[in-house]
Amino acid sequence: MPESPTGPGLPTGPAAPTGPASPTGPGPGTGPESPNGPAGTPDAPVPPAAPVAAGTPGPAGAAGTPGAAAELVSYGLVVDGAPREVTARWDESLLTVLRERLGVRGPKLGCAHGRCGACTVSLTLDGDTALVCSCLTPAAAAAGAEVGTVAGLAAADGTLSDVQEAFLAAGAVQCGYCTAGMVQSAAALLDRDPDPSAEDVSDALYGNLCRCTGYGRIVEAVLSAAATRRAR
Ligand code: FES
Ligand code: FES
Repeated sequence: MPESPTGPGLPTGPAAPTGPASPTGPGPGTGPESPNGPAGTPDAPVPPAAPVAAGTPGPAGAAGTPGAAAELVSYGLVVDGAPREVTARWDESLLTVLRERLGVRGPKLGCAHGRCGACTVSLTLDGDTALVCSCLTPAAAAAGAEVGTVAGLAAADGTLSDVQEAFLAAGAVQCGYCTAGMVQSAAALLDRDPDPSAEDVSDALYGNLCRCTGYGRIVEAVLSAAATRRAR
């Protein structure tokens, strides 16, 4: 399960799964409506949404509160290494800001309640890095943070990471909706534990739900990536 965030006011990682659930996903993602392929690169650039007029409901999905006073705030984020400027409603979730304001479509909207892990991103703030559910993270609270999405795991030339390649090789991607979160959690696990057991992998992916694969190939992919990394 993704680690809990460390920054004040930030949400915890995905909650314990309750069974096969909502789709999520990595990779060259499009919207929640459109599964992404394996281990992904970002979608084609999407123009940022038009500025939101104060007093109007925010975009669908995440942390907005329709009808609430919509005070706009401006702040900076570093997304996959690139500085980005944001002007958005103060209460928009990090997922909404990434997808709807910045056109970063790797993180997916699944449950919007911290239960599926589809929206998992890494967040580095004040020197601490944690995986968070971006659907529950107020973007303004992450001002100045470095945000890592599944697209940032690949090299600048598009070469996939070892974990992404392992998911492809193992057939651990079907609809792909969960894959971005799975890959994020798996990569974080291997960064802290180069030789995990199958149980360790299952524990690390506890908050990431997949409705398609049955998890066996996902665990296999993570163990394979770990073995490949150790053999280097
Ligand atoms: S945990 Fe399901 S969309 Fe965020
Ligand atoms: S939800 Fe379809 S591959 Fe995991």
